[in-house]
Amino acid sequence: MNLIDQIKENARKNRQRIVLPESHEERTLRAADEILAKGLADIILVGKQDDVQAHANRLGLKNFSKATVIDPERYDKTGAYADMMVELRKSKGLTKDEAIKLLKNPLYFATVMIKFGDADGEVAGADNATGDVLRPAFQFVKTLPGISVVSGAFLMFLKDHQYGENGLMVFADCAVHPNPTDRELAEIAVATAKTTRAIAQMEPRLAMLSFSTKGSASHEMVDKVVNATRIAREMEPDLKIDGELQADAAIVESIGLKKAPGSQIAGKANVLIFPTLESGNICYKLVQRLGHAEAIGPILQGMAAPINDLSRGCSVGDIVDLIAITANQAIDCK
Ligand code: ACO
Repeated sequence: MNLIDQIKENARKNRQRIVLPESHEERTLRAADEILAKGLADIILVGKQDDVQAHANRLGLKNFSKATVIDPERYDKTGAYADMMVELRKSKGLTKDEAIKLLKNPLYFATVMIKFGDADGEVAGADNATGDVLRPAFQFVKTLPGISVVSGAFLMFLKDHQYGENGLMVFADCAVHPNPTDRELAEIAVATAKTTRAIAQMEPRLAMLSFSTKGSASHEMVDKVVNATRIAREMEPDLKIDGELQADAAIVESIGLKKAPGSQIAGKANVLIFPTLESGNICYKLVQRLGHAEAIGPILQGMAAPINDLSRGCSVGDIVDLIAITANQAIDCK
């Protein structure tokens, strides 16, 4: 069984409640129908029951009787959700009227459902920009204890199986936080280790990447990676992590031996942590396109509950995969 099939099987055996706020969006409805047909998750759609059902009928979807559709304007918990939002954002001066207005936006409603304990995870973004999906999550679900930043990891399935674990590597942050501090970079490393265990199902060996290996260059950008490596070790003393390492020293055994002798990670890394979003985003796209790797993600990590953002160019299959991954993250949270 390949990794994605294992992820789906785990989701099927431990059904989670996944909320999909974009109930007007065709690929999302088709993906929801497939998930319901295969029993991979319980699906909650945010929208008007009649509109969602009519759309599903037009598309010939057969499994929608198994979905729960919630209309924020008629839901009996909307008032309680608004009270909780006011409490959570009282330092920002959020009023109840403003909270009720925000709840009319399905992206806010879905996030608050999770915070209230009425859903286990969310997938959105087929029809909304990253920032619009993430902002409600940042404001109301927030981050895990000990983690202050959300970041995004990609599973990279490489053509060349000599790298990573039989060709599987995890890259982060490729999606969210533009310029992390030392401490934030350490948190991204720790969160990525968690994603690697829970979703990639392998024991992480993390390389903290730089343009320098073990002091070959001196610059404040190198210091940031060295400090982040130290902080990550303090946060999780058993973590298998090393840095600063150049990419070749991280993944090629002969170069690792030469540039970083004695390192437990150099030449053997299966997780690459990039110093900035710029480097991570550019690298994953180059490896995907020039190296013909399959890239699955971004898998958002560090959030107190799983909320994942789709690319607007996603396919129905991408949405199904991301719902199954989100369900696995929710299982890992429990
Ligand atoms: N983790 C946790 N919380 C965060 C993060 C983060 N990474 N970033 C911002 N926040 C919080 C802030 O603390 C703030 O909380 P508060 O309201 O309680 O004080 C709230 O979110 C809003 O903060 P802003 O700084 O106003 O954040 P903004 O909404 O402007 O931006 C965003 C956040 C949209 C994620 C921004 O960092 C961004 O655009 N990142 C790049 C996303 C991107 O374009 N990625 C590449 C494409 S994806 C791809 O190629 C796969």
